[in-house]
Amino acid sequence: EFELVLQRSGLTLTVPPDKSIFEVCRAAGVSVVGSCLEGVCGTCETEIIEGEVDHRDSILNDEEKESNEFLMICVSRCREDRLTLDL
Ligand code: FES
Repeated sequence: EFELVLQRSGLTLTVPPDKSIFEVCRAAGVSVVGSCLEGVCGTCETEIIEGEVDHRDSILNDEEKESNEFLMICVSRCREDRLTLDL
């Protein structure tokens, strides 16, 4: 599990191993958009502010993943204890 900081919403949430960032945001009442929820459509792309992301989508190429600027919140996770997003 890891801590999820939503900078614009001013919220800190916990993402358990069996829930996606998308699901945790929705459950907290944060407005997030998604469609496929499988990392293939790109709808849920979100800006990363801080934290090393474990990219699990099929959209970003290696260079984009390496740059650590955006992630797909329906499938991707955090490699560290804390991830800060522009949400
Ligand atoms: Fe389709 Fe996340 S909802 S990539």
